[in-house]
Amino acid sequence: MATTTAPLDTRSPAKLKTVRIEIKRQASPDAEPRWEKFDLPLRTGMNAISAMMEIAANPVTADGRETTPIAYDANCLEEVCGSCAMRINGKARMACSALIDKVQENGVVRLEPLSKMPVVRDLSVDRSVLFENLKRVKAWVPLDGSYDLGSGPRITPQQQEEAYPLSRCISCTICMEVCPQFNEETGFVGAATIAQAKLFNEHPTGRVLKEERLHALMGDGGIQECGYAQNCVNACPKMLPLTKAISDVSRDVMIQAVKDVFTR
Ligand code: FES
Repeated sequence: MATTTAPLDTRSPAKLKTVRIEIKRQASPDAEPRWEKFDLPLRTGMNAISAMMEIAANPVTADGRETTPIAYDANCLEEVCGSCAMRINGKARMACSALIDKVQENGVVRLEPLSKMPVVRDLSVDRSVLFENLKRVKAWVPLDGSYDLGSGPRITPQQQEEAYPLSRCISCTICMEVCPQFNEETGFVGAATIAQAKLFNEHPTGRVLKEERLHALMGDGGIQECGYAQNCVNACPKMLPLTKAISDVSRDVMIQAVKDVFTR
């Protein structure tokens, strides 16, 4: 169904009535990307996900051509599941918390998939590299069976306070997207993985795997690939203390390397 769309509105944000959404689309992992433009009435509280829901209800481009709904990942719609990360007007951020009237530039919002993850379709990308990296550093607390192990070890309020910010990671991969060192050449595991290694190294039960995690972070793609650009800590939507985690783990890796010299 074709509709007539209003011309692009370039008035100040407070006076905008419509917004143009430009979306980089790709039909399959190997297809050529293309851009499609949509004009939508600007509603209070509209975010990038609700804009795409509105497009799905009436998938017609700004020049009146019928198209298909946009493919994207989203689940919680409250910046918890981490699945909706994408590039919005050139900046990697969560689509569900990107309010259109805040992120628009001259009445335009450009949505693109993350550039460092393989595109599955449109704005949906394959982020499995992060989960492979988390496996590499054994980012979990090991359990000896599924029977009742009783209450867990006591954790002091100070330990809780240190662990909590790291436990807020939502695996969105934005820290990897903005990191100049995260690329195929370095194979760098990225800040999120290092932060989770620290989280589990500090856990009273999780620390039994500390040596294995530190060894996993030595060598190619390990912690020495970090160039301390600090883009990660500035872009993280959950404000994890990523650079402190990297410094702390870097120190632990050094200490482990010295220990290895005398014990291996
Ligand atoms: S939809 Fe879950 S973080 Fe955006």
